[in-house]
This record gives sequence, structure tokens and C-alpha cells, in this order.
Amino acid sequence: MSKVIVVTGAGRGLGTDIARAALAAGHRVVATGRRPEQVEKALGGPRDDLLVTTLDVTSLEDAYAAVQAAVDRFGRIDVLINNAGNFFAGFFEEIPPDHLRQQIETNLFGPMNVTRAVLPVMRRQRAGHVITISSLAGLVGSEFNAAYAASKFGVEGWMESLHHDIAPYGIRTTIVEPGFFRTELLVDASTTWPEPSIDDYAERTASTVEAWKSINGQQPGDPAKLARALLAIAGQDEPPLRFVAGADAIEGARAKAQELLDQADASRELGGNLAHDDT
Ligand SMILES: NC(=O)c1ccc[n+]([C@@H]2O[C@H](COP(=O)([O-])OP(=O)(O)OC[C@H]3O[C@@H](n4cnc5c(N)ncnc54)[C@H](OP(=O)(O)O)[C@@H]3O)[C@@H](O)[C@H]2O)c1
Repeated sequence: MSKVIVVTGAGRGLGTDIARAALAAGHRVVATGRRPEQVEKALGGPRDDLLVTTLDVTSLEDAYAAVQAAVDRFGRIDVLINNAGNFFAGFFEEIPPDHLRQQIETNLFGPMNVTRAVLPVMRRQRAGHVITISSLAGLVGSEFNAAYAASKFGVEGWMESLHHDIAPYGIRTTIVEPGFFRTELLVDASTTWPEPSIDDYAERTASTVEAWKSINGQQPGDPAKLARALLAIAGQDEPPLRFVAGADAIEGARAKAQELLDQADASRELGGNLAHDDT
């Protein structure tokens, strides 16, 4: 069945693959990006089943305008795929506070803005599906990832809670945790590398930046395959609340789940009996 699918960050990377796969599957696509000419170039067109609109996800105004344009053109929105994102790498102390805020602004407040604009449409329809691309870094913290993981852990908590808010109106949610996929995320247009500023971190920063840069172009995940998997999920009557994407991510998520179980069990002795004596 042809659906109306809104995608953010459709001019490069996974977003382009999602938009292409959706068009190929016969869906109507609202492909959005900060630079619509870049989105048009990536997707071709014009064509009847494609609307390209400007949407910087950090702008709530842009989000409302894009949603209005989508409804004017196609009459409804069935699926929102919050895909746009970027990466501020570095050890926490070397990430300036304004970069930390920019990371959260794009990766957490961004999808919140677009979802806020879309939800009134989906509530009116009493149907819809919000898919937000998180990351394995939304489940597992790691070295050099403090800002990015904070933004993606935020996505996890927001989306997991949002599910309960909107399920009564027939709106589904799915959080997606990809492992490493070969997109443009690790190129300089998407990753902000830290400026070494603290002697203690200097060597670690230099070698970690080099290691991350060497991953670029070698990531195992194929974003075209992930795009097709996401469309399969968008077509399900009962889509999963989480979709862990890639063998590396599945291993990481399983290890984290076990770690949480172990930590909860280990907390029992000191933490399991902290209620008031009168309860
Ligand atoms: N690739 C991976 O290994 C991986 C792993 C886990 C999660 N993810 C997540 O997957 C999603 C897609 O990333 P990708 O891998 O495809 O990276 P990418 O190739 O760098 O693409 C990122 C996209 O997001 C857009 N974008 C950035 N800031 C934006 C803003 N303020 N408003 C609108 N669009 C904006 C970019 O547009 P511009 O051209 O305008 O910058 C670009 O289209 C992200 O949420 C990322 O965190 C990726």
C-alpha cells in the first residue's frame, strides 16, 4: 500500500537511501533537507510522488512549514523517519559547551521538533508511525562519544516515553539502533573533531581521531539495505518498538542488556531494601 513518508536529512547518507527505496517501493515521499537543491540533486525529479522541502531540524518553524507542505500536497502523513543527525566527537572535557549544545540541538531537539509538528496530523488520522534513528551509541556509552551518546540516549528515553503518550491514538513508534554504516557521517561535513586543548588528552585525542577517520569508508553496514529494512518495518501492522540494525549493533545491544541485568542483580544487597521501615 502506498504511504506518505516524510524523511529528514534526505540529501546525503542514509536519508537519501531511505527516500530512494521508498520511491522505488511506490510510496509518496516528502524528502527534506537544509539545502533542498542538494536533496533534488540526490533524488532526481521533479516527479508526482516526490515533494522536496526545506527543513533544518533545529527550526520548529521549518518543521511546521514542511508538514503543512506535505499535507497540502499529499493530504496525509503516514510515516515520519527522523534521520538527520551529526557527530561531535571527542573526550568530554575537550568538547566545548556550545558544541555539546549543538549536538543535542540537532540529534535530540531536532527529531523532537519535527515530531511535534507531525503529531497533530497523525492524531487527526488516528494513525501514523514515527521512526527515529538513534544509534548503538544510544544504548552503549563509549570513549570519545560523550556528546553523541548523550544525544542518542536522550532520543531513547524520549521515544520510549512518547510511545506511551501516543499509542492510544493509533500512532506507532520505532527506535532504530544502527551499528556502523557506510554513509558520510564520519566525513568532515558531518563530524566535528575536537581541537586538542588539554595536555593529558593530547596523545589519546590524536590517535583516536586517526582511528575514527580510518573507519570512514570501511564501515560494514550497507545503508541501502538498512533503508529497505526500515521500509519493511514501516509496512508492518505491529512494528517493533526497537530495531537494532547490523550484526555489530545486535552483539552490542545484547552485551549491554546482560550488563544491565548484572548491575541490577549486584545492586540488590545495598539497593534492594531502601524503603521506609513503615512500608
Ligand atoms: N552511519 C552510521 O554508522 C550511523 C550509525 C548509527 C546511527 N547513525 C545515525 O543515522 C542518521 C543518518 O546519518 P548518516 O549516517 O546518514 O550520516 P550522513 O551521511 O552524515 O548524513 C546526515 C544527514 O543529516 C543531515 N543533517 C545534519 N544536520 C541537519 C539539520 N540540522 N537539519 C536537517 N538535516 C541535517 C545532513 O544534511 P546536510 O547535508 O545539510 O549536512 C545529512 O543529510 C543519523 O541520525 C546518525 O546519527 C548513523
